[in-house]
Amino acid sequence: MSQSQQNIILIGMMGTGKSTVGKWLAQQLEYKLVDLDAALEEHEGSSIASIFTNQGEAYFRKAETAILQQVLSGTGQVIATGGGAVLNQENCELMKSGGWVVALTAEAEDIASRVQGDGLRPLLAGNTEERIRTILEERKNAYLFANYTVNTSLFSAEQVSEMILTHYR
Ligand code: S3P
Repeated sequence: MSQSQQNIILIGMMGTGKSTVGKWLAQQLEYKLVDLDAALEEHEGSSIASIFTNQGEAYFRKAETAILQQVLSGTGQVIATGGGAVLNQENCELMKSGGWVVALTAEAEDIASRVQGDGLRPLLAGNTEERIRTILEERKNAYLFANYTVNTSLFSAEQVSEMILTHYR
């Protein structure tokens, strides 16, 4: 699979480690790391938080789909998606045909401690574990289309990356 430099696409709830694991994978494979949120911020010239506040979530979701489409035209990339990119069926179809999809999961208490106080995620404002549990419940089926799934509460980022690489190669 790595012969063809198939994209690795990381999906999963906020705080499951997509960016951290993505960096490590990209280094190991010598692939380009594309953080979809960062690409969107660069394209819009505005932070995710400002986009949510000023233009609203619906605008953000449209921009997210447009960036995903653009990025998936390339190969040899590790793509860390935003946690809500899977909420749109069109995005899921794009991902399935555009690479090998890996879902990262984590327990609510770990997510809460990982994202605590970073102020980067408008949907987790207040960061209560209850809010995280609600979103996890709402999205529980959304990440199931992945080709491979790892629970990052059980392993270190390095172990998770090794497991992904073993299955990818
Ligand atoms: C979101 C996740 C965020 C970001 C935005 C919305 C979501 O990305 O795209 O705040 O709906 O789950 P991370 O998963 O990288 O935090």
